[in-house]
Amino acid sequence: MEFSIKSGNLEKRRGACLVLGVFESRTPAPASWAVGQDARRALAEVLASGDMNGRAGSTLMLRKPHALGSERLLLVGLGKEREFGDQAYATAIRTAVKAIRDSGAADAALLLTRIPVKKRSAAWRIRQAVIIASETMYRFDRFKSKKEDKRPLDDLLLAVDDKIGETAAAQALAQGLAIGEGVALAKTLGNLPSNVCTPAYLAEAARQLMEEHQLGGQVIEHAEMEKLGMHALLSVAKGSRQAPKLIVAHYRGGKSGDKPIVLVGKGVTFDSGGISLKPGEGLDEMKFDMCGAASVLGTLKAAARLQLPLNLTVIAPCVENMPGGMASKPGDIVTSLSGQSIEILNTDAEGRLILCDALSYAERFKPQAVIDVATLTGACVVALGHVASGLFANNDELAGALLDAGDTAAVDRAWRLPLWDDYQEQLKSNFADLANIGGRPAGSITAACFLSRFAGKFAWAHLDVAGTARKSGADKGATGRPVPLLTHFLLARAGKLR
Ligand code: BES
Ligand code: MN
Ligand code: ZN
Repeated sequence: MEFSIKSGNLEKRRGACLVLGVFESRTPAPASWAVGQDARRALAEVLASGDMNGRAGSTLMLRKPHALGSERLLLVGLGKEREFGDQAYATAIRTAVKAIRDSGAADAALLLTRIPVKKRSAAWRIRQAVIIASETMYRFDRFKSKKEDKRPLDDLLLAVDDKIGETAAAQALAQGLAIGEGVALAKTLGNLPSNVCTPAYLAEAARQLMEEHQLGGQVIEHAEMEKLGMHALLSVAKGSRQAPKLIVAHYRGGKSGDKPIVLVGKGVTFDSGGISLKPGEGLDEMKFDMCGAASVLGTLKAAARLQLPLNLTVIAPCVENMPGGMASKPGDIVTSLSGQSIEILNTDAEGRLILCDALSYAERFKPQAVIDVATLTGACVVALGHVASGLFANNDELAGALLDAGDTAAVDRAWRLPLWDDYQEQLKSNFADLANIGGRPAGSITAACFLSRFAGKFAWAHLDVAGTARKSGADKGATGRPVPLLTHFLLARAGKLR
């Protein structure tokens, strides 16, 4: 789908569907007036009829209403004007795009992007609209022999305020497009089944990305991991026929001396639990256990597309966690790259085992900050549901910046949980330096505590996206989170957010 932006009058550029917003109590949104007299009259008529009450999420699609010269008029309910904030705006855009898509209109003009949103700039509204529209139009039908109806909507015009200026509007549009692409990449990698999306497949996807954007990097193979001493990572791969891969990719948009931001993503292409085998219910969803890796690749793509003036390194340990004659067993002890020994009390706590070696590996890049992303614990889903990602950090400034980024990304928020030393007790092992599980209480926190033992040498944050990287039920699928959060974080660091 193509996007364009337009300030000033929209009388001549409405496409096949003109979209206007209506607040509750039947007040047309203030931005509705730059559309020509015929549209104003049509709108007044509909509102007088009482057919559109303006409730949030409601729509009314009219074909050639009486006074209107265009083919369609779509009215979108916005809810109460006083409460029109981030979430209401996101809902309005999503609702509008769905209704246009289902109508069969090939192009449309969206006036909603001109409605003021509390505490947000005009650039924010454009960026957000593009992200949400791209997401709403996303389809994954690679394995359907009958594709769903072709996508009719291929041109969306966004109305922008006259005062924002063309460069700022174009920049916001470009940022929205890049984030939309990063999200789409993360979703597709996540949605692919584990018999296709193996560690080797992820490595190949990373190679393609590196080539496309002329990035440096490499894929570290099994033999090299052994030489390095990554026995925690290797212990997870042992039960599988799929060889482990460690993706390392560098985007260098900053000065050569600028310390990189390092993103680390968990890439378990299928998590059976290993010898500590998981129960069968919902087990198919463990193909999503590589969504951390997918999201850091998606973020890398967005950063490269935008040529952000910073240095970014992405590390993704990719493995399949399977039972088998060679698999790790409860009670096994391995030595991690850091030198610390780990007693594997549960082979299903595998994410932290691959991440700990990736974190130690990150040290060599002298990072200004390391952020890992992982579908790490079921306990995080219990704590925060599917709304917020769990955030942990050993650095308050970094934590604050990530929370802000999630807030600005609006539909990708995180919530901080404690990482106090009190919890470290739970990781004591009778036989090794630490155990890989901490018992039932505070499962997400003890998982983060485990990782913190390998992140002592840099500013570090951990995002547990077990509840947010995918949806279950009728909407089952990867969400692409936290690509928007991470990209907003990078945009802020680069001074590119308006
Ligand atoms: N990949 C899972 C976490 C997960 C669970 C993600 C549900 C998405 C939905 C992780 O590897 C895991 O199995 N964690 C265990 C840890 C436990 C053994 C300490 C868990 O959460 O049960
Ligand atoms: Mn597991
Ligand atoms: Zn897992």
